[in-house]
Amino acid sequence: MIEVENLSKFYGPRPAVNNLNFTVSQGEVVGFLGPNGAGKTTTMNILCCILPASRGTARICGFDIFEQSMEIRKAIGYLPENPPVYQDMVVDDYLRFAAGIRGVAGKKIAAAIDRALEKCGLKDVRRRLIGKLSKGYQQRVGLAQALIHDPDILILDEPTTGLDPLQIIEIRKLIQNLASSHTIILSSHILPEVAQICQRVVIINEGEIAAIDTLEGLTASLRKSEHLRLRVRNADNGVQQSLEALEGVLSVRRENDSQFVIESPLGSPFQDTVARLALDKEWGIVELSSASMTLEDIFLKLTTEEKETPE
Ligand SMILES: Nc1ncnc2c1ncn2[C@@H]1O[C@H](COP(=O)(O)OP(=O)(O)O)[C@@H](O)[C@H]1O
Ligand SMILES: [Mg+2]
Repeated sequence: MIEVENLSKFYGPRPAVNNLNFTVSQGEVVGFLGPNGAGKTTTMNILCCILPASRGTARICGFDIFEQSMEIRKAIGYLPENPPVYQDMVVDDYLRFAAGIRGVAGKKIAAAIDRALEKCGLKDVRRRLIGKLSKGYQQRVGLAQALIHDPDILILDEPTTGLDPLQIIEIRKLIQNLASSHTIILSSHILPEVAQICQRVVIINEGEIAAIDTLEGLTASLRKSEHLRLRVRNADNGVQQSLEALEGVLSVRRENDSQFVIESPLGSPFQDTVARLALDKEWGIVELSSASMTLEDIFLKLTTEEKETPE
């Protein structure tokens, strides 16, 4: 549905995005994850034909971003980082205006507005001034605007930025509902958000793709070993030494007075062995759980890994 090939954008000699390659299939929800300045907005603007690429190309629903931008605009609904909503317009009027811009046929406009209001939970506020709505509701209007021409693809740039926690939950829910009927790319610098909404993640760092995978795949590919967390009541009697002495243990790290993380080779679950030892020694097991790498660990690893800088 979306195929990106060697896509680059230069501002002067500096690339904002450099040689991106990825695809998105129909019905997928893909997250662009990356720190500020990584190139997320630039990539989205190129896909939406707002910004021309310097090199490479992309096809969306089979249409080329350079040759067939009009077709692509019909297929995509875009919610930019700063929603293009007009504070002094009534919701209904604004959506009628958006429908006009998007080329929705005159006699279909009323139905298109109703559908967008319904999908975004805006029916009760349709006659209100946008400027009088909360930020969460203004963001819904932004989403409704992106949906007005019933596009197959939705591209949402940091859709929850600037909202309070309750509004964030509501917008995420709304996006999850939209995922049943649209292919979605959304960007975020917030890990849990991407983990919650997206099936696949494209991690972008300094204009380049650092990783593309499912969340499980990312975790698995980066995990070189198993980690177990053991918390005990009586940690004073040589727990660390005893754990280190177990055959096959790679390392033991003490996290605090009563808590240890035991590293063992991949595919060699140590729960039973550790539990037996703890029972024998009467340490008093409080917790014995898997301490795998979190998405946050992976993200930090991929975006902060030291680079060779030639002098
Ligand atoms: N119009 C522009 N002129 C020059 N540099 C730009 C312009 N727009 C973006 N950049 C640079 O391109 C890089 C990527 O920006 P952007 O795509 O906005 O990142 P993100 O959305 O991930 O925060 C940044 O280093 C930014 O400073
Ligand atoms: Mg951005």
